[in-house]
Amino acid sequence: MGKDVIVACDFSSAEAVYSFLDKFTGEKKPFVKIGMELFYAEGPDIVRQIKKRGHRIFLDLKLHDIPNTVKKAMAVLSGLDVDIVNLHAAGTTAMMEAALEGLTRPDGTRPLLIAVTQLTSTDQESMERDLLIHEPMADVVMHYAEIAKNAGLDGVVCSPMEAAAVHDRCGKGFLTVTPGVRFAEGDRGDQKRVMTPAEAKKIGSDYIVVGRPITAAADPVAAYERCVAEFVD
Ligand code: C5P
Repeated sequence: MGKDVIVACDFSSAEAVYSFLDKFTGEKKPFVKIGMELFYAEGPDIVRQIKKRGHRIFLDLKLHDIPNTVKKAMAVLSGLDVDIVNLHAAGTTAMMEAALEGLTRPDGTRPLLIAVTQLTSTDQESMERDLLIHEPMADVVMHYAEIAKNAGLDGVVCSPMEAAAVHDRCGKGFLTVTPGVRFAEGDRGDQKRVMTPAEAKKIGSDYIVVGRPITAAADPVAAYERCVAEFVD
């Protein structure tokens, strides 16, 4: 696995996602992120169909349940032949270890497993008030990254601003998958802490997750190619 751009396909129907993916007629098929909206609307067949079209898939379902349930769910996702799946580190070490067991196929192969630390929609105030966690957010994120690493996971989803610190703490081989990417002159939308693809490359992100700057662009293929040129090439 190397550096790549993952396109967040936040569409609500198979029709919409196919009409978007049909635009990519070149040799390089984008790495695609499928989230809850599309998965719950269309079911597991959407994963099989997109895979059949030659795309690698990050299935972003953020599992969080008791270890046995997560283990069994991960075994099902592993059977879909996805490339990356994720869970909440807050499910604890036992849940993460069970997830890895469930993901591992009889031949020893498995999709990459990455952890969500604290959602970027959670701020210090809501974390203290609702979760009774009183440490500084940066320490909490780093702690969750560390327990994910110790449980045997492959990386974390984090802000590009946190990628360098995660690599310092958990090693260069521990993957940082970073949303919150915008072109220098682009509309930020609801993302507050953003970086350009070139900046994310400089800071050492392994994968950038880019949604609307590509999906809502007048020319999505050109926007994707620009991301690849800035981040990968
Ligand atoms: O359209 P945009 O580029 O903002 O999309 C970013 C994608 O990454 C969305 O699918 C969003 O749900 C996801 N994401 C995020 N921030 C996180 C975790 C996931 O923006 N902390």
